[in-house]
Amino acid sequence: MNQSEKKYDLGMIGLGVMGRNLVLNMADEGYTVAGFDKDEDKVEALKKEAANDKVFGAKNLEEFLKSLKKPRAVMMLVPAGDPVDSVIAELLPHLEKDDIIIDGGNSHFVDTERHFKQLSHKGIQFIGVGISGGEEGARHGPSMMPGGTEKAYRRVKDIFEAAAAKVKGEPCVTYLGPKSAGHYVKMVHNGIEYGIMQLISETYHIFKKVVGLNDDELHQVYKKWNEGDLQSYLVEITSAIFSQVDPKTSGRLIDVILDEAKQKGTGKWTSQDAMELQVPVPTIDAAVSMRDLSGYKDEREKAEKILKGPDPSFGGNRDDFIAKMEGILYFSMIATYAQGFSLLRRASEKYNYNLDLVAVARIWRGGCIIRSVLLDEFMKAFRKNPSLENLLLDSHFSDIMMKNQDMVRVVVRQAAEWGIPVPGLMASLGYYDAYRRAWLPANLIQAQRDYFGSHTYERIDEKGTFHTQWNKE
Ligand code: 6PG
Repeated sequence: MNQSEKKYDLGMIGLGVMGRNLVLNMADEGYTVAGFDKDEDKVEALKKEAANDKVFGAKNLEEFLKSLKKPRAVMMLVPAGDPVDSVIAELLPHLEKDDIIIDGGNSHFVDTERHFKQLSHKGIQFIGVGISGGEEGARHGPSMMPGGTEKAYRRVKDIFEAAAAKVKGEPCVTYLGPKSAGHYVKMVHNGIEYGIMQLISETYHIFKKVVGLNDDELHQVYKKWNEGDLQSYLVEITSAIFSQVDPKTSGRLIDVILDEAKQKGTGKWTSQDAMELQVPVPTIDAAVSMRDLSGYKDEREKAEKILKGPDPSFGGNRDDFIAKMEGILYFSMIATYAQGFSLLRRASEKYNYNLDLVAVARIWRGGCIIRSVLLDEFMKAFRKNPSLENLLLDSHFSDIMMKNQDMVRVVVRQAAEWGIPVPGLMASLGYYDAYRRAWLPANLIQAQRDYFGSHTYERIDEKGTFHTQWNKE
């Protein structure tokens, strides 16, 4: 059969590193994939790298679409936002009923929702799939979070399962729910990612500026942590980062990287939608704010000369302190996941995603950026109690939180005395302390609202809403 007759299982538009790697991954798993990119060099690069009959690099959109088995499954891996809209607009005139468009980028769930509606009117199936794991994951097994039409998912299920990471023989992909469910779950994944990255960077700040650990020692600390309770991808790569040499200066690369954290928006979207749904995610909020604050480099340089604080010095036992820090990071990481899962729970009700949180935890165990040994325990917790409101209420996690809280208090107090900013760690502790209180001082807020704006309040001893003529002194 010559190439023009051969029909391919799936088509990929966008052959940047993620798209190309995913094509190669699917081909390794025995599926045939056609690729297309407006940039001819990228098509050539794919052809060169694949060099087998499982992959076809198309010259133009027409040839690309003609090469696909029907109903056609057209996946795109292009930057979120306008590029996704343009690809859909270009594809639409050529597609037939039941063809499937799959958006594999980090699209905002609101856009996915819009695409889903727009396309279902036209009889085109749509899948929004969040893909995590970066270049390496795309090539050798990412975690994939698909949502959309279930029927469409069944058409690509085998390919996705083959391409996804495997943990204990189970693929890190499953159909998550209708419409934008997949991209919503990926958004929250990234919110948790932001939170954990912020927490790790706060421990680094203390180690570097107070305890005085050098890069080799930092490498060792995170390496050791990655062998215990904190075993996770983000702790693992943190350890590796500290040993990376900069070829230009021959020093460590980390020390010449500018301290301004960039962002593409997924963490901010998590905070925004959490606010919208009134779900507290304070560690994630702090992480977004700290990335923003890091961007004010010029102002921070000015402020350092004006706003004085304490000069931190460390007097304790280093090893004991490092052990405490391990406990505080563990505590705060659990608090971050708990916030993310409680947001998913609420979003599932609000947007009718019908999410299975056991399945979410299962597909996050491998391939993705927030994979960690904790995910197995989250699965167990949700399996034990599918209506668990918050992971902190599960006995396994409540025990850990109660056990670790004292160390957290010590470190947070010390950080405040040293003047080292730890908003992520503080927010995690604050979340724990607020969540575990049956009484909060919100009665005063209600009284104030009623005082200045007659907004009324409820009473603890009688049903109804009340307003008082407050004594105005
Ligand atoms: C992943 C990552 C990936 C990407 C982030 C980076 O799961 O593989 O989350 O999607 O690297 O979106 O996000 P920021 O640029 O916002 O840090």
